Amino acid sequence: MTEPFTLNSKIKDLYKSPIGHDIVYKILLQMGMGEWVIQNPIVGNLRLKTLSTFTKKSIGPGFFNTLINLLNNEKDVPLNDDSEIVRKWWKEAVFYQIYPKSFMDLNGDGIGDLRGIISKLDYIKDLGVDAIWLCPIYDSPFDDNGYDIRDYYKISDVFGTMDDFDELLSKVHRRGIKLIMDLVVNHTSDEHQWFKGDHKDFYFIKESKGNNPPNNWTSYFGGSAWNKYDDDKWGLHLFSKKQMDLNWDNAELRREVYKMINFWLGKGVDGFRLDVINYISKTKDLPDGDEFVGKLMGFCGIEHYFYGPKLHEYLKEMRKETFDKYDAFSVGETPGVGIEMSKLLTSDYRKELDMVFSFDLLETPGHGKFDDYIYDLNYLKHYMIEWMENYGNHCFMSIFYDNHDNPRMLSKVDPSLEHRAVLAKLLAIIQFTLKGTPFLYQGQELGAVNKPFKSMDELRDIESINLYESLKGSIGEKEAFKKILSGTRDHSRVPMQWNNEKNGGFSKGTPWINAYLDSFNALDEEKDIDSILNFYREIIYLRKNSEALKYGDIEFRYKKHKNLFVYTRKINDEAYFIECNLSRMNLKRPYKKDFKERVLSNYKDDSEVLRPFEGNVYKVI
Ligand code: GLC
Ligand code: CA
Repeated sequence: MTEPFTLNSKIKDLYKSPIGHDIVYKILLQMGMGEWVIQNPIVGNLRLKTLSTFTKKSIGPGFFNTLINLLNNEKDVPLNDDSEIVRKWWKEAVFYQIYPKSFMDLNGDGIGDLRGIISKLDYIKDLGVDAIWLCPIYDSPFDDNGYDIRDYYKISDVFGTMDDFDELLSKVHRRGIKLIMDLVVNHTSDEHQWFKGDHKDFYFIKESKGNNPPNNWTSYFGGSAWNKYDDDKWGLHLFSKKQMDLNWDNAELRREVYKMINFWLGKGVDGFRLDVINYISKTKDLPDGDEFVGKLMGFCGIEHYFYGPKLHEYLKEMRKETFDKYDAFSVGETPGVGIEMSKLLTSDYRKELDMVFSFDLLETPGHGKFDDYIYDLNYLKHYMIEWMENYGNHCFMSIFYDNHDNPRMLSKVDPSLEHRAVLAKLLAIIQFTLKGTPFLYQGQELGAVNKPFKSMDELRDIESINLYESLKGSIGEKEAFKKILSGTRDHSRVPMQWNNEKNGGFSKGTPWINAYLDSFNALDEEKDIDSILNFYREIIYLRKNSEALKYGDIEFRYKKHKNLFVYTRKINDEAYFIECNLSRMNLKRPYKKDFKERVLSNYKDDSEVLRPFEGNVYKVI
């Protein structure tokens, strides 16, 4: 961009910039509209100042100034050339995310541990997994389940010792599997030596008299993002009061972070998943957030850090000082970032991150995690087409539905669970035949679903507890609990169900969170050839042995046909045809099908119509 954006800029020009594109696209989606709105000359030629006059009452000028500032801060535009795809192990791999507290408890204290993970490595290997992502296992007071790190160089006693870790790493590698760890460097615990000792300058500490926090930013876990910890001294925490944000503008802090990353890479770790990594650079002097943007996004101040002024600079520096020296892999957790910004963060020639997790597919437009609604898979189709057709070969997508921060996808799409098995397999088909790297979350391969928690006493997650406390006054305890039940992260944090024994085989003690036994478990599913687990094994095997499914071009058919999701994957002389019914009703095919070449399906027999949530994979050449 040569000319800076001003209130005189036109909407269509704004849409050409990466940030403008992502923000306008998101707003249009929320309003139930598409790109055609921008292509309409009347809309496209509108100037921001006209729009700002029209919307003066509802939006206010702050929003447009915020937008202009963001746009002017980003000088780069992604290349949209048609390059050859570069082959990398992580584009071919299937990742499996482990939440250590809930995976397997071997010493019977009710909390999963490293020796427990070691005892289940063959299970992971048999599934066909190539790489494990291990959520934080570092020393921590566990205010946010380990995402509040007290000592980056120590394994939490709860999980084991450094010897256990070394053994885990070598046993993982011996099985030909890679291991990536969680890197949490936007913040540390307030119990970290830096905060307790003489490195307060690694944090954002501001003075402010009385009970007025230094600015109006809010925390993701409720209330102000500032905590008064000493007379008039306040510390910034975007998450819990015990998770103090690190000031990346401090070069010494950055050096310490890189040293720590190199310590783990030096041990042979294959890479990291980088926690809220797009938040690390904050606008200088931390100005107030715009109130309208705050209301729109649910969090005040977000425009000052979700895509901060020095984000690219710090990511490049970090990569050069750490990852590149070891040829290590990085996947960033980047909430709020859309497709064009993701291109700038992950294009191979830019040398920042390898991949990102984009979260925009997890809820349909107009809904949040804590809303009780049924997820329409037509949105997943829309989202995937948008990304697959535009992300380009310089970037590679991560494809996931479940993780430790969200309820289970199966329950979102089919809360009644009437179609659980068929739907679980359909979601697997989509995840493993689209173009991108699949990330599984523990239990997904068994068809894990949300839990029928009965009261707040059963929940452990700080996000849920704080939200409940803040809601119950206004909407009452019953309604507040209902909301929490829709979105609580604890749905996915309950113990793995290994067998029919006590606590599903997870622990001989009392689990740290109710185990809520399901009607299914890993052992039973292993024995049943039609199980969800065995379906996952099969589809992972299929992908592993197919160039077309890993690197092939993707082409979508019948895009406008509601409830139908059809595409092909093709490379050289290998091609697949994939058809999915996204609804719980029968669906007529608008084409003739030759059933001979079907290689995988979530229904046993063929049928002239596509049955509820039916998915089929055909090998066509
Ligand atoms: C990420 C983690 C989440 C954690 C938060 C703060 O979103 O996935 O579990 O609470 O960052 O570290
Ligand atoms: Ca244990």
